[in-house]
Amino acid sequence: MKTRLGVLLGLLILPLTLSAASFKPGHDAVASAQPFATKAGMQVLAKGGNAFDAAVAVSAALAVVEPYSSGIGGGGFWLLHVAKDNRNTFIDGREYAPAAATATMYQDKNGDVIKGASLNGPLSAAIPGEVAALAYINKHYGRLSLAQDLAPAIKLAHDGFPLDRMFHEMIANRVDKLKQWPAAAAVFMPGGQVPPTGYILKQPDLARTLKLIANEGDAGFYRGRLAREMVDAVRANGGIWSLEDLRDYKVVLRQPLVGEYHGMKIISAPPSSSGGVVLLEALNILSGYDLSHDSNLMQKHFIIEAMRYAYRDRAEYLGDPAFVKMPIKRLLSPYYAAGLRVSILPDKATPSSDLAPVAAGAPESHHTTHISILDKDGNRVAATFTVNFRFGSGFMPPHTGVILNDEMDDFVSKPGVPNGFGLVGNSANAIAPHKRPLSSMTPTFLETPHGLAILGTPGGGRIISMVLLGTLDYFNGGDATSIVSIPRYHMQYLPDVVFYEPGAFTPDEVTGLGNMGYTLQRVTPYGNMQAITWDYKTGKLMAAADPRDIGTAEVR
Ligand code: GLY
Repeated sequence: MKTRLGVLLGLLILPLTLSAASFKPGHDAVASAQPFATKAGMQVLAKGGNAFDAAVAVSAALAVVEPYSSGIGGGGFWLLHVAKDNRNTFIDGREYAPAAATATMYQDKNGDVIKGASLNGPLSAAIPGEVAALAYINKHYGRLSLAQDLAPAIKLAHDGFPLDRMFHEMIANRVDKLKQWPAAAAVFMPGGQVPPTGYILKQPDLARTLKLIANEGDAGFYRGRLAREMVDAVRANGGIWSLEDLRDYKVVLRQPLVGEYHGMKIISAPPSSSGGVVLLEALNILSGYDLSHDSNLMQKHFIIEAMRYAYRDRAEYLGDPAFVKMPIKRLLSPYYAAGLRVSILPDKATPSSDLAPVAAGAPESHHTTHISILDKDGNRVAATFTVNFRFGSGFMPPHTGVILNDEMDDFVSKPGVPNGFGLVGNSANAIAPHKRPLSSMTPTFLETPHGLAILGTPGGGRIISMVLLGTLDYFNGGDATSIVSIPRYHMQYLPDVVFYEPGAFTPDEVTGLGNMGYTLQRVTPYGNMQAITWDYKTGKLMAAADPRDIGTAEVR
């Protein structure tokens, strides 16, 4: 932990040293959830591309080698740092609801939520944003052509690649869902069987679709033959997409949220993600404590309480900024955080039922993906993107190779009724035509006077608490390996339970937290964080993939 003097000194030198604009890493680094995707990024960098080209290449490759997590039938957020301008920008390529969507579309005639309706099949799919985001990033920030950036993904889809352990498990876990949709089953379960590890999985339809995008840009996806094929297939199977929904889709450029924690600058995701708001609100609450003087037990108590309060506000206030007026300024004010802090007792858990009510948690699964990239010139990308749950909706329009997302489940189907992640919300996140569902994805940059970190992770509602713990670890001197490895714990207001990985709490801490009134639940390891850290002084550049999964990180 830093001393108060260290914090003061840090704040004094902050304006002079906060950015790495004046010098360069001199090396490239890529961390992603799948080795072939990491390699795709390194290939594009070796061909003269920059971090933004690499982000396009890695994102597209993940659509091929990790389609249960993300893909061109999904969407996400790409946080960019442009080194030459010392500028950050945020590309919101989140899906939006089709124009025919309504607030009650997943309720039956009695007003009850129809189980699974927002999770399976084309009715659960929102209009994808990933292709628009990748084309935009390539056009405005890349050095190479879109075709060059997409080339590794096209090759992986066309030539195939050996199925890894994780992919095999994901198919095996999703047999029932995939079997419902013949095009998806034909690709992922050839001959009706779950292919074994090492099987060379080829996706010729997806290769053709990617080639079309390489040749025609995003118009190849949002207009013309492919758009018609997708809309026809969606509508023939109970969905509500229209050609206009696809034609009208556009990325939104946003200012990232910026906050400060004891002299460390945090740059993170604005709404339509809840990530940055919840992360910064929790850090603001924690700023009022001198955690370095607290016992480990007390630190964890305060961190859990900060999560509880910040996640509660997520449920109450947050949604798509084009539709909802949100009190972001108030939520991120230090005075607001101070007000919340006074109600946190030093020796007792705050029952979530004592907070103004807004309703329960689901086990985490594999879906969503995160990439962290830094190039030799200091350009950076933190991007988190998704098809939502494993293999999204499961639906693949025939001949396209594209798995469609089930992002509609990130809306509130009914106020107070938890979604697939157990997250609750209210009208701020109700379904409306062309509205973006509230996300938890939290791609983040951290900058201190001595270095920077790039981080993020999949994990549904737990994303934000993982990024919070990674942020605190970096503040306390952690590097990329430590950030992705530290044991995790999570509290999201409701359910009033602290979920924790083995090793997150010592036996004494389990007893201590129990005595304070916490309900603790040990869970299997979760998350799949990718991080990069760069120390300006020593020049040390580290990239690390989460040891819980199969991802890889390379520095060259
Ligand atoms: N689909 C998960 C999220 O956006 O938070």
